[in-house]
Amino acid sequence: MKKIFLAISKGRIMEEALALLKKNEIECNISPNDSRKLIFRTNYENLQIIIVRASDVPLYIESGKVDLGIVGKDTLLESNVDNYFFLKDLKIASCKLVVAGKKDKKLASNMKIATKYPSLTQDFFLSKGIPCSVLKLYGSMELAAVLNLSDAIVDLVDTGKTLKENGLEEICLIDNISSHLIVNKSSYKLKKNQIDKLVNRIS
Ligand code: ATP
Ligand code: PRP
Repeated sequence: MKKIFLAISKGRIMEEALALLKKNEIECNISPNDSRKLIFRTNYENLQIIIVRASDVPLYIESGKVDLGIVGKDTLLESNVDNYFFLKDLKIASCKLVVAGKKDKKLASNMKIATKYPSLTQDFFLSKGIPCSVLKLYGSMELAAVLNLSDAIVDLVDTGKTLKENGLEEICLIDNISSHLIVNKSSYKLKKNQIDKLVNRIS
């Protein structure tokens, strides 16, 4: 039986992904929450779990060093990796990807958008036929709109608390986001039976 490597995004997704696996009786031999290790054996056949930053998951999958990944749809939309198959929407770490700004702000030509998602932002505005310029930030996007560093932001919204407490509002929805299970195309050909069995197990 071949080894199967599954990369899980650190942070929010990891918590929910490990809980989902546990519900299906798949567990790491040591808890990733209590360890600085990066690769974990599990109690399920030859499955090993790798913990990486969310934005690095697509690259590990593209390289083929890792077979499977659990990653947010936002990260997949932003990455230019395409040699993977979508296997399942795990419906965990759900949130929305939106354009947001100060009250009554509307989409308009040549807006400056602050975001950590420059590529998907350009794609979205292009699909609407609205030219925009993008300012890449690494966190606290809301601040850019509050201080008029940008006209609007593209960011994730969960409870809406961050927008509300900073006096911002959703202008429009780009997409609903949740975590997806993906597989490297070659891995899927080589280990199809093992992978299908694992995917069926994760319900
Ligand atoms: P990276 O390490 O790549 O910079 P990060 O530090 O932003 O990522 P987290 O915030 O822990 O990592 O997780 C981000 C992922 O969790 C997102 O890609 C998204 O799919 C999901 N997510 C769910 N709810 C939220 C939320 N409220 N805010 C941000 N991300 C969320
Ligand atoms: C995320 C996201 C929003 C906020 C949305 O930020 O970028 O700012 O959470 O959640 P809410 O709708 O429930 O308020 P995060 O906490 O990851 O911090 P960051 O701005 O440093 O990325």
